[in-house]
Amino acid sequence: MIETHGLYLGDVERNAPKELVLLSIIAQSYFQPFSLQDNLLVILTALTSGSGVGFNRAMLFRAEGGRLKGEMWLGPTSSEEARSIWEILSTPGIGYIEIVEHNRALLSRAGGTLSERIKTLSFPLGENGLRIPSRAVERGEIVNVRGARGEPEVDRRFLDVIGVEDFLCVPLLAREEPLGEIILDNAFTKTAITESDIKLAAICGLIAGNYIYTAALHKKMLDMEKFAAMGEMAMYITHQLRNPLVTIGGFTDQLLRYEGEDRRKSRRNLEIIRAETRRLEDIVYKLGHFLKPEQKPPAAFNPGPILRGALDDPGFRAKSRGRRIRARLARAMPLVIGYPTHVGEALRNLLDNALDATPEGGTVFVQTSNADPRWFVVKIKDTGRGIADRDRDRLFLPFFTTKEGGVGLGLHFVKRIMESCGGAIEVRSREGKGTEFRLCFVKEDRGTDA
Ligand SMILES: Nc1ncnc2c1ncn2[C@@H]1O[C@H](COP(=O)(O)OP(=O)(O)OP(=O)(O)O)[C@@H](O)[C@H]1O
Ligand SMILES: [Mg+2]
Repeated sequence: MIETHGLYLGDVERNAPKELVLLSIIAQSYFQPFSLQDNLLVILTALTSGSGVGFNRAMLFRAEGGRLKGEMWLGPTSSEEARSIWEILSTPGIGYIEIVEHNRALLSRAGGTLSERIKTLSFPLGENGLRIPSRAVERGEIVNVRGARGEPEVDRRFLDVIGVEDFLCVPLLAREEPLGEIILDNAFTKTAITESDIKLAAICGLIAGNYIYTAALHKKMLDMEKFAAMGEMAMYITHQLRNPLVTIGGFTDQLLRYEGEDRRKSRRNLEIIRAETRRLEDIVYKLGHFLKPEQKPPAAFNPGPILRGALDDPGFRAKSRGRRIRARLARAMPLVIGYPTHVGEALRNLLDNALDATPEGGTVFVQTSNADPRWFVVKIKDTGRGIADRDRDRLFLPFFTTKEGGVGLGLHFVKRIMESCGGAIEVRSREGKGTEFRLCFVKEDRGTDA
């Protein structure tokens, strides 16, 4: 026989051993899309809920900038509140998710909460941190305090706020590094803290330390990825801008040196400077335009006029000289979903690339296909040099270019705008034979247009 069980157990029966209840509460918080703050709240909940360890109150301190700072304090503020809360929480059918919800509401309640009181507390760590409460995390040991007023090592300000004589300090550590501390007490029931309470609190301390450590590592990793991406981008942009700037600088220096000597030479220099300035303008335009995220939602439009407009574009006409352009466009085109202005730009990019790749005498084909019920496809095919296998995976990456003076943002832009309106871009290519790009637009459900 083969039996299967879900990993998510729901609530463990209330009469199960409290160790099991505690571990189940904490382990299941991994299943929830909880933030670090929420996960720590779950641990404090497990430590204070009657079905968990059952302390009356739990405080959380976090280490920050060489100090231990008060962050949350969970528990009732008076015996009456304690009684009413425990009554609600022991109602049959109330599970740990409800308890966490209840506690979250308790923490965010304005005015008179315990958390407000400890947020003003902060104690030094390091060499000056040998008084209680800092001592537990500084020495990496659990400190059980009984009769605190008689112990000069206990910080008086802390005692005034906690207001009880007996409490337990549990350190939160990651490989010796102090991360924080949990402080537990039985302010209302006045029950003594037992050996088994201490062991369970220790387990919670280890798990909470682990939570904080993993969350910090995760954040560090995300920051590093972000910085690496920014660094890479800065490198590409610097590289793109450097060549035209160096050229402009060099030819301007020459102009200054030979001023008035040779008008033909001066004019040539000025023309080069003008061309390089245009190149800079083009790079800056592309950087600003092609990397900008789309703000507006896509809309239904007729692709016909845009396609014809791109083919009639004077720049494209001039560039295509010496090559044939064969356009076979459907007379009636369906309405498609996208960004009309960007689609024109996307097409011009693909036509531009096709012409760049096609030698004189070659042909560029532009064709539409309405055969698929869902997709309207625009094909741009050339008989150019094709794309090398090693470049195939990098085509759509920003700044990938094999062209002298190319920016490498054209295909990246086309892919981004196609995907952001539910469409796609496909590519087929054979080295030495040619390349075909396909823009696949989602058709609008109804309506055709000429
Ligand atoms: N039709 C094509 N045939 C062969 N290679 C192509 C074709 N289209 C794109 N490529 C390759 O993909 C690279 C990236 O194209 P993309 O349009 O993104 O940038 P680019 O044309 O180099 O520069 P720009 O940002 O100025 O358009 C090109 O440098 C070229 O190597
Ligand atoms: Mg291009």
